Amino acid sequence: MSLTQQRILATEIPGPRSQALQARKVASVSAGVGTTLPVYVEQAGGGILRDVDGNQLIDFGSGIAVTTVGNASPRVVEAVQRQVADFTHTCFMVTPYEEYVAVCEKLAELTPGEHEKRSALFNSGAEAVENAVKVARHHTGRDAIVVFDHAYHGRTNLTMALTAKNMPYKHGFGPFAGEIYRSPMAYPYRWPGGAEACADEAFDAFVSTVHAQVGEDSCAAVLIEPIQGEGGFIVPPSGWLKRVSEWCTEHGILLIADEIQTGFARTGDWFACDHEGVVPDLVTTAKGMAGGLPLAAVTGRAEVMDSVHVGGLGGTYGGNPVACAAALAAIETMESSDLRGRAREIEAIFLPRLRALAERHPDRVGDIRGRGAMLAVELVVDGPGRTPDAALAGAVHRACSSEGLVTLTCGTFGNVFRFLPPLSIDDDLLAEGLDIFEAAFDAAVAGGKVE
Ligand SMILES: Cc1ncc(COP(=O)(O)O)c(C=O)c1O
Repeated sequence: MSLTQQRILATEIPGPRSQALQARKVASVSAGVGTTLPVYVEQAGGGILRDVDGNQLIDFGSGIAVTTVGNASPRVVEAVQRQVADFTHTCFMVTPYEEYVAVCEKLAELTPGEHEKRSALFNSGAEAVENAVKVARHHTGRDAIVVFDHAYHGRTNLTMALTAKNMPYKHGFGPFAGEIYRSPMAYPYRWPGGAEACADEAFDAFVSTVHAQVGEDSCAAVLIEPIQGEGGFIVPPSGWLKRVSEWCTEHGILLIADEIQTGFARTGDWFACDHEGVVPDLVTTAKGMAGGLPLAAVTGRAEVMDSVHVGGLGGTYGGNPVACAAALAAIETMESSDLRGRAREIEAIFLPRLRALAERHPDRVGDIRGRGAMLAVELVVDGPGRTPDAALAGAVHRACSSEGLVTLTCGTFGNVFRFLPPLSIDDDLLAEGLDIFEAAFDAAVAGGKVE
């Protein structure tokens, strides 16, 4: 059944059937698993999510940057159906299959750098990050990992330690893994010395962190999101990541780029590192890679990845054949439909409208940033000091939800409104979604105090 690419408000949001399901959720699912918008989905595709009450919502979230090729994307559906009918699991470590190898070949081709590469496949982003750290420590014989303020790398024990934000990710879940060190992030909008000074001062601060707190010879790897995701879509100044990368190479420290949110066409390139001309030693990928099926990878220099003893990497489900078939189909779709170009078009549609919003509300829109179809506005309280305004972000988010627009917020201070539409969304839905967002924003600001 195909889904009309049209927003429909059939009931209030959430409607009665969603509310009934939410009551069952509350009675059966741990309260620790939250839901941003308790609207229960029964079908999705293009730029639309259809719920159990017949509402059709515009999707500006892509299930947190996953459905880059769209939900139920035709090639993915066909590949999954074929694979599921052939076989569903053997465990690649027991009796292998071609799809796993083909995904690794594709990763070698598409990830930054022309060097020889190897990959290993996993189930989730956090698992990929954990394994990248394992490989880096094993290869270098060093323990320390350097990460950044505002970083998000997952929710397992090691990745909680790598993640910066306490609430909700870490609070009460310690003790955390050791030998993790944190450096200030090159965050131009909030750099104490101002955006102009950010690149140089943040580089000096990074070098000082490694030198003074860790010692270059003890540092296995520097782990960074080239554009930070959950931390607030923070884009470091142009050239900064390249300096970090070159300095790491000089000191035998591996650079791990966490491209789990930024990778696979989202930012208008295959990977966000491409834009900066940075070639990391190891890259972690997940999310958009497999069209919604759980698949993640670590890809890296052959000599680094192959330094691990046989049996040192793996897992029962990692590189599941159905997820691999989905990934091959999703990547083929990205190539044949030029989804990198589509991400750049989406940026060109969004930016003028976000800039016009900032002109209307110069005291509330502190910053506009991002790249491709990964864009954000940072909201602040009217007045001096760039005080984060999470209440305004929340009010706009709630107003968008009730008008049938699915949106996400992020940021260490909860005051960043982010846009992650599927790249399969059409221009009319993009424009309508932006109309709703702008009207919600204007109304929230005009309403004065937001709760
Ligand atoms: C940059 C980054 N790294 C790691 C992760 C963790 O991925 P997962 O939720 O699949 O474990 C995420 C998820 O949002 C992410 O954005």
